[in-house]
Amino acid sequence: MKNIILIGFMGSGKSSVSHHLSYTLKMQEIDTDKYISDEQKMSIPEIFSQKGEEYFRDLETNLLKNLQNKNSLIISCGGGMPLREENQKLLKILGTVFLLTASPETTFNRVKNNNNRPLLNDNMNLEYITKMIESRKDKYLKTADFVIDTDNKTISEICNEIKNLVD
Ligand code: S3P
Repeated sequence: MKNIILIGFMGSGKSSVSHHLSYTLKMQEIDTDKYISDEQKMSIPEIFSQKGEEYFRDLETNLLKNLQNKNSLIISCGGGMPLREENQKLLKILGTVFLLTASPETTFNRVKNNNNRPLLNDNMNLEYITKMIESRKDKYLKTADFVIDTDNKTISEICNEIKNLVD
């Protein structure tokens, strides 16, 4: 089975959807943030503050390269994975790419009480999130095979949409 790849902005539901898909489709899941954090033995905020964002982005690219011969995985990507053109290509080769989207308001409500996202920590407001989603939109769309809107949907409804598209 081809890999199922989940991309999307922070708070778009990638982790929850990945867990549910992994359980119902009996496919192993890889969360790129968790993988990188385990491998580096540092949290994502620690990697950003001690090594910098570019270092983290290099780790993301390396991970995508290392996954290239694998299949039957659910791969849940950190929100910035599709920013590099190189990663966009690697993601497309790796499997079927689903972009999860949510309105800025929904996104803000999902992330506002969380402090483990270094790019939002000093900018936790609707205006900033709206601008950031807009600035990334083209890269997300370019990378995606399918776009799934998650606003006002349950995790199982979202997963059913994805399952119907991969069947
Ligand atoms: C990031 C998203 C985060 C994490 C890092 C950077 C981004 O992942 O990779 O904080 O640039 O959008 P989540 O989308 O899982 O929060």
